[in-house]
Amino acid sequence: MCSVNARSLERPDRRLDKGVCGGTVLKDKYGKEIDEILSRYPVKRSALIPLLYVAQRDQGYVSEAVMQEIARLLGLTPPQVYETVTFYTMFNLKPVGKFHIQVCKSLMCALVGSDTMIGWIKTKLGIAPGESTTDGLFTLSAVECLAACGTGPMMQINEDYYEQVTEDKLDRILADLRSTGTSALKSGPFLWPEPTPAERAREA
Ligand code: FES
Repeated sequence: MCSVNARSLERPDRRLDKGVCGGTVLKDKYGKEIDEILSRYPVKRSALIPLLYVAQRDQGYVSEAVMQEIARLLGLTPPQVYETVTFYTMFNLKPVGKFHIQVCKSLMCALVGSDTMIGWIKTKLGIAPGESTTDGLFTLSAVECLAACGTGPMMQINEDYYEQVTEDKLDRILADLRSTGTSALKSGPFLWPEPTPAERAREA
């Protein structure tokens, strides 16, 4: 079992060596995929984000032990991996529910009701941002802009976008997720209007 903790990851002088934590959990499980990812990049460190995705897909979050392993695989320091994981909100530092609801709280969505939407979710699921339902189904996060600013209020649930969310839509989305694990109301990304024939002609 790896004995390092977040404090150790934050120490910029701490370069990983096998004596600190030599786990190969990710490599053991996904060795072929990792080799294929590494082969795409002339500079190994460029594979950092794809490897973090592999880790998160496996466990639902990126553990400290896996950050250590990725650092070793890419010749990085653990703090370099840690700072990337903590910069992007799509990476989770702790386990999340089966459905991770991320509500955009940035300006454009705030102007059209993201706070109200968070209030609906709080009422319907009994959780605030940063919390998970006791059944492990839902986790709520409030995040910065998800680049669908023209179609707010919006949220991302796992890999899917839901835009121009109303309370009625939210009810249907939550019911769909509970019953089937997905929802036909997903839109993303970008619920832009279909281009008109004239616009299509201009683009051709
Ligand atoms: S402000 Fe909400 S997606 Fe950009």
